[in-house]
Amino acid sequence: MTAAQWTPTYGDPFEPVPYRPARMSEEESLATAADLRRRMDDRRTVRMFSADPVPEQVVVDAIAVASTAPSGAHQQPWTFVLIKDDATKQRIREAAEEEERVSYEGRLGEEWLSALRPLGTDAVKTHLTDAPYLIVVFQQRYFLDEDGTKHKHYYVDESVGIAVGMLLTALHLSGLAALTHTPSPMRFLGELLERPQNEKAFAVIPVGYPADDCVVPNLVRKSIDQVMIRR
Ligand SMILES: Cc1cc2nc3c(=O)[nH]c(=O)nc-3n(C[C@H](O)[C@H](O)[C@H](O)COP(=O)(O)O)c2cc1C
Repeated sequence: MTAAQWTPTYGDPFEPVPYRPARMSEEESLATAADLRRRMDDRRTVRMFSADPVPEQVVVDAIAVASTAPSGAHQQPWTFVLIKDDATKQRIREAAEEEERVSYEGRLGEEWLSALRPLGTDAVKTHLTDAPYLIVVFQQRYFLDEDGTKHKHYYVDESVGIAVGMLLTALHLSGLAALTHTPSPMRFLGELLERPQNEKAFAVIPVGYPADDCVVPNLVRKSIDQVMIRR
C-alpha cells in the first residue's frame, strides 16, 4: 500500500509524517545482522557484579532506547526508576531477600524450585547492593487524567516486555551486564520507591560490569532450527 492509497476509516484526524529511513545495501544488512547475532549470543544474565562505576550516561541512553519500544496504542506504559543510592539499594535488597526466603523455603513449590536448581540461585541477592545501578521497571496498568478518571492501558505486559528486551539489548551492546530479577511478589518495590497506585513493578535490573571472578550457569540455547518454523 502507498500513502496515496491509505484511507483510514475511523479515528481522530490522521496527520501522518513522512518516514523515509535510508535503505541499507543488502551486503550491509547481512553483515549487520550476522554481527548482531554473534554479539547478542554473548549476552548472559550476570548475578556477580563488580562494584566498579559505570558511566551513568550509558545507562540513561539504554533506558532511552527502551523507551523507543512499540507499545499498545502508543501508550508507552512504563516508568524506569534509576537507583544508585546505596541506602536505597540496601533497603531493596533487604525487602527482596525477605520475600525470596519465603519463596525458596516453600512458596515456589517443588516444580519451580527444580527448574531453578541448574541456575544455582538462592535467597541471597548480593547483586542488589553490589551493582552500581539498579533499574526498577514499572508497568503503568492504567492512566489517571487530571480529574482522576482512570483510562485503561492496552497490552501493558507485552509492551513493557518488549521495552525491557530492548533495554537489555542496549545495555549489552554498550558493554554492560545486567540481570533480570523478578522477586515475587514485588509489591514492596512500589511502596519503597513511592510509586503511584497505577504502577506495578515488573522487574529489578541490576546493571554494571561482571565481577572479575564472575561465573554463569552452563546453559545451552535452542538452535535456530528448534525455535523457527518455515511455512
Ligand atoms: C521474566 C524473567 C524473569 C527472571 N527472573 C529472574 C530472577 O528472579 N532471578 C534470577 O536470578 N534470574 C532471573 N531471570 C534470568 C533467567 O534465569 C535467565 O535469563 C536464563 O536463565 C537464561 O540465561 P541467560 O540470560 O544468561 O541467557 C529472569 C529472566 C526473565 C526473562
